[in-house]
Parts: sequence; C-alpha cells; structure tokens
Amino acid sequence: MCGITGIVTRNSDEIGELLVRCSSKLTYRGYDSVGVAAVRNGIVDLRKDVGTVDEVNKLLGLSQMKGDRGIAQLRWATYGAPTKVNAQPHFGCEEVFYGAHNGNIHNYVEYKKELLETGHIVRSENDGELCVHAVDKYYEETGDMFEAVRKSTDDLHGAFAYAVGRADEPEIYAVKMGSSLVAGVANEATIVSSDLPSVLPLTNNVIYLADGEMLVLTHDDVKVFRIEDGKQLDRKPELSNVDARAAEKGGYPHFMLKEINEQPKVVQDVMGVLEGQHSDEWIKMFADASRHFLVACGSSYNASIVGTYYFNRLAGIPIIHGLGGQFDLMYGQTMNEDSLSILVSQSGETKDIMNVLKRVKEKNLGKTLGILNVIGSTLMFESDSYIPMACGYEVSVPATKTYYSQSIIFAYLAAKLGEYNGHIDPSEARSFVGMLKNDLPRLTQETIDRTGILAKNLARTMLDVKDLYCLGYGFTDGVAREGALKIKEICYNHCEGMYSSEFKHGPLSIVTKNYPVIFATTPEDSWMVINHINEVRARYGRTIIVGEHEEKLEPYIDNKHDYLIVPKSDVLINPILDVIPLQLLSYFLSVDLGINPDLPRNLSKTLTVD
Ligand code: F6R
Repeated sequence: MCGITGIVTRNSDEIGELLVRCSSKLTYRGYDSVGVAAVRNGIVDLRKDVGTVDEVNKLLGLSQMKGDRGIAQLRWATYGAPTKVNAQPHFGCEEVFYGAHNGNIHNYVEYKKELLETGHIVRSENDGELCVHAVDKYYEETGDMFEAVRKSTDDLHGAFAYAVGRADEPEIYAVKMGSSLVAGVANEATIVSSDLPSVLPLTNNVIYLADGEMLVLTHDDVKVFRIEDGKQLDRKPELSNVDARAAEKGGYPHFMLKEINEQPKVVQDVMGVLEGQHSDEWIKMFADASRHFLVACGSSYNASIVGTYYFNRLAGIPIIHGLGGQFDLMYGQTMNEDSLSILVSQSGETKDIMNVLKRVKEKNLGKTLGILNVIGSTLMFESDSYIPMACGYEVSVPATKTYYSQSIIFAYLAAKLGEYNGHIDPSEARSFVGMLKNDLPRLTQETIDRTGILAKNLARTMLDVKDLYCLGYGFTDGVAREGALKIKEICYNHCEGMYSSEFKHGPLSIVTKNYPVIFATTPEDSWMVINHINEVRARYGRTIIVGEHEEKLEPYIDNKHDYLIVPKSDVLINPILDVIPLQLLSYFLSVDLGINPDLPRNLSKTLTVD
C-alpha cells in the first residue's frame, strides 16, 4: 500500500532532504510514483512523477526542496493508473491545500461527482485527491483548519489515513481512519508516517495512533485529538527500541538476501519470545476454544498450512485454515463465542485480515490471537493477545524471515498444546522444543551455507524457464506453495505450488521433455513422493528435489544442483528448513533475470486495501 510522510521542522533549509531520507524507508509500501509538497513562505512547491524515490529525486531534485514543512507520498496504484497526474500529494482546488493519503476511499465515484457538481476542480483519477478536497470544502464552511480536517472524515468512506496542510498555516494535520499512522517527536522537528521505518531516521520517540484519531504537528509538538468530538487526548511519546539500522542493507546487495541470512538469529529471537512469560496464556487460549480458525494471506497463509499439519500431528486438534479474503464466506457461519481466531500477518495491517478481525469482534465470535511482526500495528492493538514474530524489520517485499518465524511459532505452539492436552508425551514435547531452541539456529545456518551455492548454480540453468510446478506432500505442502509464490513474485514466472498427489489429477498433462517440476520432501514422505516423481520422469520431465539426502532419491536427478540438500535433522524440523533453498533459488533466479527482488513490479508489502 502507499506510504505517507509529513514533517514539520524548525530549519527551513532541510525539508526536502528530510522527506526524501525518511520516506525512502517506506519504499516497500509502494514504488509506482513519488511526490513531495514542501511549503516555504506560504508557497507550496509540489513535485511528483512516476518511479521510485531515487528515480524521481534524480529527475526533480526533491531533496533540494526548501521549506519548514511538507508531505511526501510513495504510491502503490489502486485508484487511477500510475501516472504523474495521479501521483500524490495533490492540491485542493487551488494551490493552497496540499495533502496525500494511504488506503482506499470507497465512495470515490459518488463523492467525486458531488465535488465536481459543487464546483471543485478535481484533476486526477486518484482517490487521495478527494481527501484534500474534503478538507478544502469544510474550510470554506468553517474557516478553521482543525474543524475542516475533523469534519472531512465524515464525507469519506473506506479505510485510509491522510496528511494535509494549508499553505498559510504552519501545522500539518493527519487523520487515521483504518490505515496505519505513527508520529515521532524529534529535536526541533516532528513527523507523521504510515510506518515506523520512516520515523526512526529522525527519532525513536514515537506515538502510535488509534483509528478515529487525528494529529496536529508543529515543529516542536505533536497533539492527538479524537475526531468524533475534537477532544484532546493525553498521548505522550514512547521510546521505541527498534534500531534504525534494521532498515539498512548492511553490506548485502539486496534486503532479501540479508533477510534470508538473518533467519538463524530469527530462530533464537522468536524462541525467546515463545519461551517467555506469555506462553501459558497462549496455550490456554487454544485449550479453552472449541474451534480454531487460522486466517492469513500470501506467505503467511502458506506458513499457516504448515502450521495446520503441526497442530494435527502434535496437538491432535483440527485447525480450519483459510485465506483472509475468503474466510467469512467460507467459514463465517461456523464460528461461535467459543472460537479462537488466529490471525497471522507480518504487517499486522492486511485489510483482508482486518475485515475478519472486525467481524469477529462485532459479532462476538470468540477470542482473537494475532501473530504479527510489526509492533504497533492495528492487529497488535486490536487482537485479544498477540505473538510477535520477532524478526525485526522485513524490508524486502517478498516475505522470507517472517514466513520462517511463523513456521516456528506454529511448531512450538502445537508441541506445547499437545503436551498440555495430553496428545503427546511431555518428554516428546520437551525434546522437540529443545531442538527448536538449541539445534535449529545451527541447522538454519548450515542450510543457508550448503544450499546457497547449489541454488545459485541451479538458477543459472533456469533462465529460459517460464513455467513450472513446485510440489509438496504432507508437511511440505505449505513449503512448496511458498517456494512457488516466491518464484512467481520475484522471477515473474508462472510457478504453481500444489499438493504432489494432486498433480496426476490434471496438471500432469503439461509435462513434456525437460518440463521442470520441483519436489519438496522429507524422509518420512519420500516413499510416497517417489511415486509422483516417477509420474513426471516417465513423461521425460525434469525433476528437482529439495530435502535431506536420501540415496533412494539420487536416481531422480540429472545434475548435482538439481538436488538441494538440507542438513540431516528431525522429521519435524526438516519441513522448516526445506523452504530456505527455495527462497535462495528464487532470489538468485530473480537477480540473474535482471529483476530487483526487493521491489517486484506491481506489488506492495503492506496491503491495506480490499
Ligand atoms: C509474499 C508476501 C505476501 C504477504 C501477504 C500477506 O512474499 O509477502 O504474499 O505474505 O501480502 O501479508 P501480511 O503477512 O503482512 O498479512
């Protein structure tokens, strides 16, 4: 989704530089177009165009813009094509009001019509422009900027946040109505942003906002108000302990490679969280519920599939898993007040997940447990309890370390729940948790080291591949889907991830000589997977295998690099490791194809739209 950053500073020479430096940290949210509106001596300088921050900065000299306040916006196009006129920020009718939004205005068509009929000059097809016009409209009526901003939210339906200002007033205003917003108070400057990474270059003193709240920023203060009645709220900045360097590449060519390499540390950090003081509370939430629903999207959904196998195996409970967007229609009527909804989201902002959360709360459909990475996200504030993924910032658009953390969280919870409800022996649970804690960091590092070079060599043989499958069986079901998602997402190849025993029920017809099919497997399931491999080999297809070394699998590969061998471990640890070679393969293939894996086209990391 888009990212907005608004800054007010005492020093009128630095606004362009500050806005570029801070807003560039939100690049993962959108890189279709970029714009900056900077105000100096009551005049708004608005520069915007199609491209990333770096590209548009080079073209338009954004960082040289002068002024003591301004708003920057990085766009991921939803309403209106990614063009210069649709780029944000926007002006109101005249070059007096300026502003930008993140989110969607659902009544865009009707409201635009109403504005045009009442004489507003609306220049773009972008819904963000309507936020500025709404403020413009109410300023006409009230002559008061605070009231205009407050009332503007009455006209706009949807989930959004926006920042606005007026050329002749020193403040910047911002509202939060369903999309994330965080503020920061630095020495002689204040900032409001869609997400923490762009606040941290300026300050660690942060204020998180709740929906229905608005902000007034001056260069030395941030005041928070309730939109409904305009009442000021007592909200003091808190010290964030997130290190701004987390949003740097740290010597790696891409964030994605850095984040893959951070996975051994992620294991340690997430195990620290899981073994901490809240563990019993989470297990009790599971134990007290009569039905368990696991809701997620994209990579988080793939990890949830792996989780479902763990809960069956270790805890003996059925988990109903579903995609955020389909959940209500598929399972909504089967939830009741004893249900537990486990909502999994790296960003903690995904609208498809928030819709489920909202419905569960409105209809009193039981408890909610968020599993999230972004501290301060809506999911964190709104769910009954939450488990942090403890990954630090995941900047690259493709999820890697957060998927990894999610798999570990599910494995751990399942073992602890199994121990609690007597499905497995306490010694079995203890031994498994011990492996997660003591062995997995080392095994993760070994997997990265061993499969990195193989994945790199394999990628070089796949440059002409446009179409392939990635299959898994049992625990590697979600792993294969995740590998396929990575290849699709950052290599722009069609790669379908599916259950390997399903392949013969139709898709097998696609296989011709050398057609590539990747199989992710574990020693427990390879006896079955060999059948599926044979079905492909009998049609002269090329089989690529991911898993532990097994002699019986050797005959099914033609080259060394077609077997991505992970270190020997336990049968329940193995599926966690299997994803790493697939992450690495997609990374190297993407780079070899000349794609920037951190910023794949058409995507955004935080999807706060339906
Ligand atoms: C793929 C990817 C996406 C996200 C999905 C859900 O690499 O990152 O598929 O997993 O958009 O995002 P969260 O987990 O933030 O809800």
